[in-house]
Amino acid sequence: MPNDCIIALKPSNLTYDEAAASPTRGTLALYFLKNGNVQRGHKILIYGASGGVGTFAVQIAKHFGANVTGVCSTSNLELVKSLGADKVIDYTKDDPTKSTEHYDLIFDAVGKRKSSEFKSQCKKALTENGKYISVDDGTPKIGIDSLLLLKELIETGKIKPVIGKSYPLDQIVEAHKHVDSGHKTGNLTITIK
Ligand SMILES: NC(=O)c1ccc[n+]([C@@H]2O[C@H](COP(=O)([O-])OP(=O)(O)OC[C@H]3O[C@@H](n4cnc5c(N)ncnc54)[C@H](OP(=O)(O)O)[C@@H]3O)[C@@H](O)[C@H]2O)c1
Repeated sequence: MPNDCIIALKPSNLTYDEAAASPTRGTLALYFLKNGNVQRGHKILIYGASGGVGTFAVQIAKHFGANVTGVCSTSNLELVKSLGADKVIDYTKDDPTKSTEHYDLIFDAVGKRKSSEFKSQCKKALTENGKYISVDDGTPKIGIDSLLLLKELIETGKIKPVIGKSYPLDQIVEAHKHVDSGHKTGNLTITIK
């Protein structure tokens, strides 16, 4: 079922670009982490920590008091650390499911590998009661409460949207190609002047 139209005032400390980049990926990350019942002290693995959903998820999980391991490629390691991740794993060098670590929650924020190998490999990296969730698990209905909580977390400086790149409207084709690459960093915005 599609979401009802929900609306909130722009966070006072964001630019319009940053505000435009926040609601969809921010509320999605919030929804899935709440659904994963993230608790203070939980060990969480966020797969795709440098993407639109992932960059919000790392910060929100830290806000909830989790111990966060972010998985991304080499060029994004510093970014993910700067968002508060306790540990980062470079998936081009290490397989996060093959270490001796066990996680209370694995959040697959990449999504497209939902039904592939990654999901079954993850089972070995979960604690006994650990849970795997994927950003592709259904189409969540986002309520106004989520949007208002996101606004509050932003205004109190707990989280900040990451904008990897901005394109002018006349470069929208390039912008779409960049999104389709599956390797954008954080969020991408289109500027209309
Ligand atoms: N359920 C829903 O309603 C809903 C709504 C919207 C979106 N989604 C889904 O959410 C997903 C994420 O969206 P997004 O905007 O966050 O995407 P995104 O910004 O393109 O992020 C993708 C991330 O995946 C990482 N990545 C790519 N290949 C990888 C690999 N082989 N192993 C590990 N990481 C890899 C990339 O990191 P590197 O660049 O470092 O490789 C990038 O940070 C999409 O699949 C989308 O379909 C679901």
